[in-house]
Amino acid sequence: MKSLIVFCSTHGTTAKAAHLLRKQIEGDVIVINLEKTKLHSDLELFDSVIIGGSIHAGSIQGKIRKFMKENDHVLQRKNLGLFLCCMREGEEAFKQFDNVFPHRLREAAVVKGLFGGEFAFSRMNFFEKIIARSISGSTDDKSTLDVEAIREFATTFNRSNKFLPV
Ligand SMILES: Cc1cc2nc3c(=O)[nH]c(=O)nc-3n(C[C@H](O)[C@H](O)[C@H](O)COP(=O)(O)O)c2cc1C
Repeated sequence: MKSLIVFCSTHGTTAKAAHLLRKQIEGDVIVINLEKTKLHSDLELFDSVIIGGSIHAGSIQGKIRKFMKENDHVLQRKNLGLFLCCMREGEEAFKQFDNVFPHRLREAAVVKGLFGGEFAFSRMNFFEKIIARSISGSTDDKSTLDVEAIREFATTFNRSNKFLPV
């Protein structure tokens, strides 16, 4: 079973989540950071694909949007997982998830995850600090990264991988 995890991460949280996932996904797993590397392999080589990104001012990274748009048809046929890192919680987080992942991929996904997020002010520029402070209400570093949600996502994903038609 071959799986691909593609992600973008502005300050490292989604990268952390992707690498935690990698350790828990069964079979061969390749992890690609689309900010740093282009995907050279054919998507057809993978049984499963996991796509992850984070929210900044309401949007997911442009390279993730482009990847989903260009591979829409292939992705719908995969054992597909989608995850998002963000600091908003509850209903607002679900709304952001629905806004950034296209309807067809959300419908096709066997598992969807909200993994929380992190505010690391030392990694932000001046403008990012202003936005982050307005969301957080403080300038203290904060983490809501949800390792249990990552574990549950991996368990569901592995289970559905086993039932893929051969
Ligand atoms: C400038 C900025 C804007 C953000 N905007 C949002 C937002 O609109 N909604 C939200 O839920 N989280 C927002 N966040 C929180 C990020 O989603 C969170 O920090 C996440 O962990 C970032 O992951 P990354 O380091 O992988 O990019 C924002 C963070 C920053 C720094």
